[in-house]
Amino acid sequence: MRPTYLTRVLLLAVCCCVAVCDLSHVEDMKSQERFFLSSLGLSGRPRPAGSHQSRRHVPSPLWRMFRRSESVQAQESDPCMVSEYGVRGNIIRYVQDQGRLVSGWNSVCQACVEKQLFFNMSVLQPVELLSLAQLDVKFHWKPFRPASLLQGPRTLSVSLYKVIRATLRGANPQANRRLLLSQSIQLQPEPISITMDLTSLAENWRKPGRNYGLVLEQLPLIADPEELLPFHPGNSLPLEPAFTLPLIQASLVAVSLNPHQCRSRQRRSAVHLPVTPSNVCKARRLYIDFKDVGWQDWIIAPQGYMANYCHGECPFPLSESLNGTNHAILQTLVHSLDPHGTPQPCCVPIRLSPISMLYYDNNDNVVLRHYQDMVVDECGCR
Ligand SMILES: *[C@@H]1O[C@H](CO)[C@@H](O)[C@H](O)[C@H]1NC(C)=O
Ligand SMILES: *[C@@H]1O[C@H](CO)[C@@H](O)[C@H](O)[C@H]1NC(C)=O
Repeated sequence: MRPTYLTRVLLLAVCCCVAVCDLSHVEDMKSQERFFLSSLGLSGRPRPAGSHQSRRHVPSPLWRMFRRSESVQAQESDPCMVSEYGVRGNIIRYVQDQGRLVSGWNSVCQACVEKQLFFNMSVLQPVELLSLAQLDVKFHWKPFRPASLLQGPRTLSVSLYKVIRATLRGANPQANRRLLLSQSIQLQPEPISITMDLTSLAENWRKPGRNYGLVLEQLPLIADPEELLPFHPGNSLPLEPAFTLPLIQASLVAVSLNPHQCRSRQRRSAVHLPVTPSNVCKARRLYIDFKDVGWQDWIIAPQGYMANYCHGECPFPLSESLNGTNHAILQTLVHSLDPHGTPQPCCVPIRLSPISMLYYDNNDNVVLRHYQDMVVDECGCR
């Protein structure tokens, strides 16, 4: 990916691309958009499910990391270190669970409820190195009857298995699982979560045909067995439950590193660009609002940012402050002798800095990523 192309897309075309811009058709816009999306690792423009309400909620740790990344100290720190998890990385995804609720057919444990957990790891690009995959399962217990709250906490025995191969019809599913964790949890009205490091397993899941997911088995432990109604296939909940099972929300927090995107985030304060009117090449202020490019539905934050652009002349004699190359100095010299035969050099970005972006990917996962070459800090004649 040549950053210069990208810069052009984003900075709405500067200086030397006047000819290109004149041809700007819808098709061009589409191909530029595809280009930008593919550099974010997206196959197409994400269409997050439904309206604002039904949309996947942004986990609060991600919000915190996003806000921190905007602070000045964060911009000076290593862009490829995720201090919250103490691992190397520049992309943080909350990969959401796509597993089904399956229950009842378990011959070993009649009263168990099983939930499949499946995390599609093909959202990671092959170039990415996975540094951490942490399973996070949240149990939200909302008893139907308020009275049941008064009877004190209920206990749920939870077992987590990895599935090592597909189960053929009629075979015993137990034979294809390995226990990863077993613990009991006390259900309270406040959500409870369990976390577990699954990095090596998730690395394995990236290989084609190797991801059979996990199974989470829940067995309510109740003093009075009368209260418990067994589950039957097809019933997602028993009728008239004395004991309601908690709602489960699972995600896999995946931190990965794209080693090609580790340039420093140190940024000159381009925010304080001078407003002196001048025709000479320099960085100018430009605020890009993602709403203007129609991306507000999949970019969660920021809503826009100060991208700036380069504009102005590169006149003879080229002064040192214009950061010209030797070639540009000679070109201005030739231009001054023959203005029609040779154009002036172009005023282009020579130093760019990244921003952090929080967005939904093609699978509706929430992703936080540092994205390079988004802000023009300095311009020069090239
Ligand atoms: C996983 O995601 C990829 C790309 O986003 C998609 O092509 C594939 O069908 C998904 N696999 C499953 C099992 O959902
Ligand atoms: C050229 O670079 C210097 C710092 O190296 C910077 O202060 C100056 O603004 C740059 N010139 C332009 C036109 O941006």
